[in-house]
Amino acid sequence: NPIQPPVLDKCGVATYSNLKDEEQKIDTCCPPISDKIIDYKLPPVFGMKTRPSAHRVSPEYIFKYNMAIDRMKRLPKDDPRNFMQQANIHCAYCNDAYDQPEQGNLKIQVHKSWLFFPFHRWYLYFYERILGKLIGDPTFALPFWNWDNPKGMTIPPMYMDSKSALYDPKRDKESFPPAVVNLGLIPNKDPLQAVSNNLTIMHSEMIRGNSSAFDFMGKVYKEGSPVNPGAGSIERGAHTSVHWWVGDPGQPAKENMGNFYSAGRDPLFYCHHGNVDRMWTLWQYFLPSSKVPDKRITDPDFLNAAFLFYDENAQLVRVTVKDCLDNLRMGYDYERIDLPWLDYRP
Ligand code: C2O
Repeated sequence: NPIQPPVLDKCGVATYSNLKDEEQKIDTCCPPISDKIIDYKLPPVFGMKTRPSAHRVSPEYIFKYNMAIDRMKRLPKDDPRNFMQQANIHCAYCNDAYDQPEQGNLKIQVHKSWLFFPFHRWYLYFYERILGKLIGDPTFALPFWNWDNPKGMTIPPMYMDSKSALYDPKRDKESFPPAVVNLGLIPNKDPLQAVSNNLTIMHSEMIRGNSSAFDFMGKVYKEGSPVNPGAGSIERGAHTSVHWWVGDPGQPAKENMGNFYSAGRDPLFYCHHGNVDRMWTLWQYFLPSSKVPDKRITDPDFLNAAFLFYDENAQLVRVTVKDCLDNLRMGYDYERIDLPWLDYRP
């Protein structure tokens, strides 16, 4: 059977490890409870939203985005759309706050398995709709951090203004622009070498290293499975490296971006995951498929896995993996940018 959605009123204490590898407990990650759950139906798409590259957005865009995040931070603390409540979604689903219903002590964990891309796609989907609602602009689209292109390999400037709602003081100062993002774990002081390493890593994680859909998506995870069967290539590589590169090594657990429980507290998280999600769409629809003849996973235990989210009207909804496989059906696309890693051979 597929992983079932969590039972919200059984949400418990979340745990994480700090940099000294000591286990920490946190009991504030659970969402508000609601007894009315609606099966979510994707609304008809009237106009496609285009998520822009965060390095290319206009001052008007930054102004609107900043206003939306600011309003999200000012919502009542117990509103499920509030900024911290949204951050806590990540904590609850990723730090063992939820048990798999009726499966003893087995936990729900959306990382390191085939649920990684679908979960984060739905997470951003509702986050984006909430922001749009807060500024009365249903066409609002989140930006993506274009770290796979040399022009996007620094923290996007709009997140660096310390007076902006997009700023987060818990980041590594060494990673401030013009530092070049490190998509691998080998530190590199020479910026040109770093760019070249990043392109090599992208080529390998998107193309060369994958011989089945599971290599890219992550391994099988069903009801009754223990957590962490295995991450896909991008999740394990570039995705995790960026989290680690942004998080502040001076904080006890590399907060905010460097730990699951706190990552969603940095607005940059959703921009980072925009690009992670974009990698999924590129892999599905644009990449040569010779090495992976069938990219689709048709196992019903994948397609019917379900999650709970609060939508832009603060209604609790149940969503399934099968409804998020096509970003166009969900009403958004990504700005087209060159893919310099496509044929990259160092
Ligand atoms: Cu849920 Cu980037 O992690």
